[in-house]
Amino acid sequence: MQTMTDTASDTDAAWHDVGEPDDFPDGAVWPVIAGGMAIAVFRQGDSLHALHDLCTHGNARLSDGYIENGCVECPLHQGLFDICTGETRGGPVTEAVRSFPVQVRAGRVEVSVQRKA
Ligand code: FES
Repeated sequence: MQTMTDTASDTDAAWHDVGEPDDFPDGAVWPVIAGGMAIAVFRQGDSLHALHDLCTHGNARLSDGYIENGCVECPLHQGLFDICTGETRGGPVTEAVRSFPVQVRAGRVEVSVQRKA
């Protein structure tokens, strides 16, 4: 399954290897660690998306949530977040969750994680 190898270099220090595309089943969410941060990776067809794996409303992992209509539903109080952007789509959440760029390079999925300054 996924590996947690850090492929950072001097030129693209923010990209972190999180596995192969086939490690992420279509329509599902998968937890990974990238740059020491918990990330939820979502696959929707050919698209991959990454959100911080922590609800902004409480201590719940979005990777334990339910996916429907392009959103992930928090398992604790059913707050909704847009999988692509992290924006809120339904209460009780009022703060968006961080989203991160994802790319596939040389057959590997990479997530760009930069800590807030
Ligand atoms: S902890 Fe996620 S909606 Fe409350």
